[in-house]
Amino acid sequence: MSPRKIVIAIDGYASCGKSTMAKELARKIGYIYIDSGAMYRAVALYCIEQGLFEGNRLDVEALQRHIDDIDITFVLNPETGRPETFLNGRNVERDIRGMAVSDKVSYVAAVGFVRRKLVALQQAMGREKGIVMDGRDIGTVVFPDAELKIFLTASPEVRARRRVDELRAKGQKVSYDEVLHNVRERDRIDETREVDPLRKADDALLLDNSTLTLEQQDQWLMQQYRRVAGLDPQ
Ligand code: DC
Repeated sequence: MSPRKIVIAIDGYASCGKSTMAKELARKIGYIYIDSGAMYRAVALYCIEQGLFEGNRLDVEALQRHIDDIDITFVLNPETGRPETFLNGRNVERDIRGMAVSDKVSYVAAVGFVRRKLVALQQAMGREKGIVMDGRDIGTVVFPDAELKIFLTASPEVRARRRVDELRAKGQKVSYDEVLHNVRERDRIDETREVDPLRKADDALLLDNSTLTLEQQDQWLMQQYRRVAGLDPQ
């Protein structure tokens, strides 16, 4: 029996390994992977570069005037086989992962008209199904009818440790305390914002991966996929 093409929504807290999990699953099952956080990060980078931030204060009116000038696309890197984020035709994959963007992105993601624009783009990307998308509101707002929804979590300390290792491996100098503060602060803003706050969908499966290895996590996810896609006998 050929598998049923589905939509897989993976939501959860900052730095709990959503994208690692989503990318690996997409690769294994031949689905498209979309990192919705990268889109919010690209808008944040645009705001920083255009001088729309004064400290943590975002000039929302100026952003509204520029919102239609922001074009975000993903292009597959043939060497890595992974999609990279482009902002107005420029590859920003590296720039959007630094602390400068991480510090500001939650303010941008709290703006209603930014969310409406990005949610519409994300929904268009999922129209044909066969997609794995990760973020904060994928199972609740972007694809409320997704066939498989996962809500991932891990303790803030575990998440900060992983993020420090990831940034240091890329050659960035960061302190554990700075990253832990950023993780907690982003959780707070993401959970308490008025528009589409981070929330587990009622029908999402909860997975705390604080003490799981990547292999255990991938195995668990593959089982869920096989069950929902109708690949395992019921
Ligand atoms: O997953 P990430 O850390 O790259 O996400 C960056 C920020 O974007 C994060 O602070 C929350 C926000 N975000 C969001 O509000 N909705 C999404 N679907 C994805 C990310």
